[in-house]
Amino acid sequence: MQPSRSALLLLVAIAAASGCDDDAPANPDASVAADSAELSDELSMPAVPTVDSSKFRGSESCGSCHVQHYQEWRTSMHSYAMVDPVYRALVSIRQEDFAGNQDRFCLQCHSPIGTRSGDIQPGFSFENLQNITLEGVNCETCHSTSAVQRPFNAGLVLDVGGPMKGPIKNAQQTAGHQTEYSELLQGSRMCASCHDVVEVSGLNLERPYEEWLQSPAAAEGVECQSCHMAGYSGKATEVSPERDLHEHFFVGVDMPLTDDYLPDAQALDDLRGRISQLLEGSATISMNATAAPAGQQIDLFVSLHNNIVAHNIPTGSTFNRQVWLEVIATDADNNVLYETGTLDANDDLRNYWSDEDPFGDSDLLEFGSRLTDRDGNPELFSWRATEHHTNSLSPLYDRTSTLFIPTASNTNGPVHIEARLRFRSFPPHLLRKLALDEYLSKLEIFDIDSLSIDVDLLAP
Ligand code: HEC
Ligand code: HEC
Ligand code: HEC
Ligand code: HEC
Ligand code: HEC
Repeated sequence: MQPSRSALLLLVAIAAASGCDDDAPANPDASVAADSAELSDELSMPAVPTVDSSKFRGSESCGSCHVQHYQEWRTSMHSYAMVDPVYRALVSIRQEDFAGNQDRFCLQCHSPIGTRSGDIQPGFSFENLQNITLEGVNCETCHSTSAVQRPFNAGLVLDVGGPMKGPIKNAQQTAGHQTEYSELLQGSRMCASCHDVVEVSGLNLERPYEEWLQSPAAAEGVECQSCHMAGYSGKATEVSPERDLHEHFFVGVDMPLTDDYLPDAQALDDLRGRISQLLEGSATISMNATAAPAGQQIDLFVSLHNNIVAHNIPTGSTFNRQVWLEVIATDADNNVLYETGTLDANDDLRNYWSDEDPFGDSDLLEFGSRLTDRDGNPELFSWRATEHHTNSLSPLYDRTSTLFIPTASNTNGPVHIEARLRFRSFPPHLLRKLALDEYLSKLEIFDIDSLSIDVDLLAP
């Protein structure tokens, strides 16, 4: 755990007030106070409103001039951040667990404007929120950001009512708003302000920026925007000159689960295409096997290489993500000799969380992370967990595992071995636990890479 990030939120508040930066030391005792009092933070979860929500115009109004930026953002997870049914279900459980005392915690990033304007009050209900709050991470959240006070937990400072900040040095004059050139918006620290997440307990939940800081990408100046906001040539508005612009799809790994989120089926297909493109080739499988006579086991060496120069695979909410290796070996008569990473009758992996076959896959290679409670048992909810064990692959890193494929004396070769590195945003058991069964059919699996080899059986 990084000491600078294990700082508790309460401590962060104190540190900010006393002018310290993000290097507040960890204090394991401070979590006790968080349970009894309403959790707040001067910057990101103020108990008294610090911004006036009527000063924000809403993303649709920006879209009247910035048509393409708006359309792209509308299909992105930034605009889904407050409507996501998984998010809403988790927030509701957390509301009950803390009797409303920590109701601003999740909201500080998923809707910074709503949290700072006072719309989010203890015991709030999603049904009664203002439209601007429900926009989630909207245009004005990012484009009002004038500074990043800490690179985690909504550390962004908003210059409400100020000029729109962006990467254009000589922007046209417009009646729409004033403009201001910003270097901040072109760098990873901007994204870090929300993408690195530290629980109230001090547990590091998400840390793409921390990973990036230690990666070759940071040294080479390859920022988050390089991959998640690809450049193109176009016009920022109909009347603007041709310039280098940046995509606002913010492609990651998530697809919306609700039908009414995207305008049509085509938009969903396009999004699926962008996700496959990002994922395909982001890691590579290689395999090597020792030849064996029928009746003996084949030793299979499987290596995975993370091709991403900037962060782990997976990154972000690794405790929900599933990245795993599926290997199926069959003989020449198509009998299955061995399998790992295959699904049970509920489409779950056959691990601890499987209702059907919890001990069915002792070789299972998973590359996400696992939360556990104080007794060491797996835990689904971050705020009930005390430890976070990660198994994700570091940038440009290789990991090799050995699997043993049994054969019988009457097995006919060659043995055909197929491997796939698979990705799923959420496990089905999480949706069932949240009573979101209606979305189970929406969960999709993407294959990051696949490879097959044939192994001859030696004469005995
Ligand atoms: C009346 C039309 C209009 C509206 C409405 C409008 N803009 Fe703009 N915006 C422009 C024009 C024109 C430019 C300059 C483009 C250029 O120079 O290529 C611009 C530039 C920008 C820039 C780039 C600034 C820079 O220096 O890099 C950002 C960011 C921006 N707008 C965000 C927004 C946001 C957010 C909203 C909604 C709150 C919005 N705009 C509403 C017309 C508009
Ligand atoms: C104000 C907080 C905030 C800021 C700033 C922010 N993000 Fe996000 N981002 C989020 C949230 C919240 C989500 C997830 C919403 C959801 O799925 O419910 C998200 C989702 C994403 C996703 C999609 C992830 C997926 O799995 O599909 C990408 C990619 C992304 N952000 C990239 C960026 C980049 C690049 C930057 C910096 C330019 C940035 N974000 C800045 C809050 C933020
Ligand atoms: C070199 C290109 C590259 C850069 C730079 C990069 N990413 Fe990614 N990012 C990817 C790829 C490829 C994936 C899909 C594989 C994965 O999930 O790790 C991804 C996935 C993600 C996801 C969704 C992941 C998940 O598994 O839930 C988030 C969130 C994200 N990146 C945030 C960031 C942030 C924040 C930065 C900057 C600190 C950044 N990325 C920099 C390539 C990049
Ligand atoms: C998560 C943060 C985020 C959100 C949300 C966001 N933007 Fe941006 N936007 C950026 C960043 C970062 C850049 C600059 C990227 C770079 O230079 O690498 C940018 C660039 C721009 C520019 C300058 C031209 C260009 O493409 O570089 C305009 C105009 C703009 N955004 C408008 C909008 C509008 C309109 C919305 C809402 C519909 C919006 N943005 C939502 C982060 C965001
Ligand atoms: C520090 C900012 C921050 C806080 C606080 C935060 N989130 Fe998020 N949330 C994000 C970002 C960034 C993403 C995108 C991560 C990714 O795609 O890997 C995200 C994604 C999500 C998602 C969709 C993807 C997934 O893997 O689950 C859910 C659901 C979610 N958050 C729920 C919550 C809940 C519940 C809380 C409160 C316990 C919370 N978030 C607190 C920033 C935050």
